[in-house]
Amino acid sequence: MLNHAEIDNLKNWIESINEFNSTPEFGTTRVLFTPVEIQSREYIKAEMKKLNLNVHEDAIGNIYAVLEGRNPQLEPVWTGSHIDSVLNAGMFDGVVGVVGGLEALRLIMQLEVRPERSIVLIVYTSEEPTRFGLSCLGSRAMAGRLTKEDMHQLLDKDGNTLAGVLDSLGYSRNGFERLAVARGSVYGAVELHIEQNGVLDKEGLPVGIVKAICAPTNYMVEVQGCQSHAGGTSMTARRDAYMAACELALSLEKLARESLSEYTTVTVGWVDVVPNAVNVIPGTVRFSIDIRDVDFQSKNILIGRLEEEVGRIESVRNVKIRMILQNHDIPMKCDEGIIKTIENVCLSQGIDYRRMISGAYHDSLFVGEFAPVAMIFVPSKKGISHSPDEWTDYEDIAVGVDILANTLLTMANTIEGSANA
Ligand code: GLV
Ligand code: MN
Ligand code: MN
Repeated sequence: MLNHAEIDNLKNWIESINEFNSTPEFGTTRVLFTPVEIQSREYIKAEMKKLNLNVHEDAIGNIYAVLEGRNPQLEPVWTGSHIDSVLNAGMFDGVVGVVGGLEALRLIMQLEVRPERSIVLIVYTSEEPTRFGLSCLGSRAMAGRLTKEDMHQLLDKDGNTLAGVLDSLGYSRNGFERLAVARGSVYGAVELHIEQNGVLDKEGLPVGIVKAICAPTNYMVEVQGCQSHAGGTSMTARRDAYMAACELALSLEKLARESLSEYTTVTVGWVDVVPNAVNVIPGTVRFSIDIRDVDFQSKNILIGRLEEEVGRIESVRNVKIRMILQNHDIPMKCDEGIIKTIENVCLSQGIDYRRMISGAYHDSLFVGEFAPVAMIFVPSKKGISHSPDEWTDYEDIAVGVDILANTLLTMANTIEGSANA
């Protein structure tokens, strides 16, 4: 029988990690390999070592803390999440899965008998695309979807390559060729995360079990019109890049509203207007497009329609529109075997739950390419996330950690069959 998670531990770890913050005046910002992010890595590694876990890192900076099982030759069970953030974020996104995993391992280590399989807690590098414009760098590389060449091409806003930054921090010597994880070499993985939607909060439920994870497709779009005088250029003569961008954005929104998929979202979150002056018709507009869907085919249909809209707007407005694809990721169905294990743990603990879709993506999206995965959600107040207003009660996190710890223990003590069975 496992003890219950200690709320004080969770609070202390979450608040301590939140001290590593480059925007303490407005939310939390911890961007990959900035001084605060590096400090947060050092902190969590030290906390892992305090629990006598075996800590190591790979060539992209994923951190692994291993609780060795009695049969370490068996495929291990994984858990973990991320500690980097978007700009001006909250303090729970990702961090809950890391410190929740740490608390789960602490509880499991209190048992007299170690589990059969090893359990590995992982801090994945840069789940957020904040620095290099591409999400899930660590787990993407594990899945073999981020090549060495990609790492030389990914640039931050100062022109640094990911490969260069990894080199300067000494990670490269851990061997890029050892990054990809072989299919079948991990027994199963469970990630604890805040919901980032308001379903659990609204329904008063403590736990969500994720049945499928939406995957993003991201574009940078460049609209080229003609910069000109706001008063002197008549409405028929102008080639307004901003209005064309707006029309494309609204077409995108309409396509998402009309989607027949169970869950589709679209977002234009970044816009750059040139020259950005009140009395000048914008000549160039660059903006981002984020399209998510739980169904890959539906997403592809939407993208096909969007491309038709691009052609129509180009000809009607006499502008040029360039869509630069950043990533086109595949949604993930979670593993029914692990879902059932989580459900049984909830039932045995008297915890109410529901199955749900994750609209946000997670490292589990990529871990799921080489291992069976599932996720445990805890409620987000009013569904707000990626905002300083993000909040999850510590009591709710503790419930999620109890479910996580018991699920990991059950999986780690299952020797026969596979989590897929
Ligand atoms: C991850 O943070 C996402 O944008 O879903
Ligand atoms: Mn996030
Ligand atoms: Mn996250």
